[in-house]
Amino acid sequence: MQVRLAEAKVSEVDCDALVLPVFEDESPNAGILKEFDERLGGLLTELKERGEWPTTPGTLSILHRPPNLQASRLILTSCGKKAEVDGFTIRLALTKALHKIRGFQIRRVGVYSRSEFDIEAAAQGAVLAAFQVDGYKTRDQSRSFIEQIDLISQQAGDRRQLEYAIEKGRILGEATNLARLLTNEPGNSVNPRELARRAGMVADECGLEIEVLDEKAAEKLQMNAFLAVARGSQEPPQFIVIRHLKDPDRKSPPAVLIGKGVTFDSGGLSLKPPQGMEEMKTDKAGACAVLAAMQAIALLEAPKNVVALLPCVENLPGGRALKPGDIVRAMNGTTVEVLNTDAEGRLILADAIAYARQQLHAAFMIDIATLTGACVVALGHVRAGLFGNSDPLCERVLQASEKAGEKLWRLPLDREYRKEIESDIADIKNVGPRWGGAITAAKFLEEFAGDTPWCHLDIAGVDLFRDNNDLKGPTGFGVRTLVEAILSESPDSL
Ligand code: BES
Ligand code: ZN
Ligand code: ZN
Repeated sequence: MQVRLAEAKVSEVDCDALVLPVFEDESPNAGILKEFDERLGGLLTELKERGEWPTTPGTLSILHRPPNLQASRLILTSCGKKAEVDGFTIRLALTKALHKIRGFQIRRVGVYSRSEFDIEAAAQGAVLAAFQVDGYKTRDQSRSFIEQIDLISQQAGDRRQLEYAIEKGRILGEATNLARLLTNEPGNSVNPRELARRAGMVADECGLEIEVLDEKAAEKLQMNAFLAVARGSQEPPQFIVIRHLKDPDRKSPPAVLIGKGVTFDSGGLSLKPPQGMEEMKTDKAGACAVLAAMQAIALLEAPKNVVALLPCVENLPGGRALKPGDIVRAMNGTTVEVLNTDAEGRLILADAIAYARQQLHAAFMIDIATLTGACVVALGHVRAGLFGNSDPLCERVLQASEKAGEKLWRLPLDREYRKEIESDIADIKNVGPRWGGAITAAKFLEEFAGDTPWCHLDIAGVDLFRDNNDLKGPTGFGVRTLVEAILSESPDSL
């Protein structure tokens, strides 16, 4: 999709639909809307008077053949209340608006970017609307016809800066769509080897180095916690390492991004109930978010050293599967008593964190994972959980998430929680009691992070659109936060 800064004036933009964002509490008789209203012979005033003004973010009013405009439709989309507008609402309003009109065979869209707008968020929102969930339908696919988006900017300022913001918005939007597409793939299409192949394609396209450690290589490194999870499946595990080494000083320690890549989580021998098990094809959302973030980091030419680790496995209850009661020795020597094979994410992440420290001497690490149902109980489907052993790194990630429009909430890691994962016969056990499950999972990971600054994002509740009638499938949560955290000006020696 082409996204660009329009050359023409608003009245001259020749497109199938011109999107005009409005606020629910503004009058059509003031500011820029007054100009539109006059041009349209009072149509906006009429909409308001008839109670057809759009209200909650993403609601629309469509006017056909608007007078004195080149556009064949004018679409008013609400961005909610003027005082509350932020990148999050702008992105959502544009995504919802363009998503609703995608079936109309609209190819060229003009978007009027208002002076209070973050134009990068507007560009992202437009790109996100093109995502298609039903690519496997053989009839009546919901594909988007949008080919070109012209952003008509009201922002004063340097044209080159606006163009960069639009380009960054496009890159982040496309990367988020890549994460959504991969996460949405069923387990019989994307298994660990296929995920490695797709990662290879992404790496080739944007100039990233990639190395895939197979079972043998992982055995050599004694990644036994990772390997143990994979043993119940016929599909071999893949530990994917992707490098972007672009710090002018190539030797500085890298930032390491780690994504949970369970291509299907049946629970293993601690089998999950059948209801809703199909959702566990999305247990690779963390790995997909990290891969997509690396694509954006490469395309944005971030002058940083970044390494991505994607431990990929299938968690199945085969004949050689990990059994409750088994004890495994992780890469860093820690022994783990496995009491529940469904708490597999922390096992594969443990070895990835150990790898980041021992093999890469990471400056800092951020992991992202659909880790616990308990996090969904705590925060619902609105915010993801954030944990970490370093206040400056947590602050950096929180700031990045605000910029990205992805909501996080920091949860605690007090010392008192540690006893809940104490094992009688090994160093630690892989599950705690029912209460505080998101925290004990993070406490488990913290054991492996040692004194390296580390943050953990539990995205179990936010990886899918749930409460929404039009937007379906994976959200791609985390891609933009990870990219912003890497691009941040904060020193990498946190
Ligand atoms: N992949 C799941 C977590 C999950 C649950 C993601 C719901 C998305 C939606 C994870 O591997 C898991 O099964 N966790 C268990 C841990 C428990 C056994 C301690 C859980 O949360 O029930
Ligand atoms: Zn599980
Ligand atoms: Zn899982």
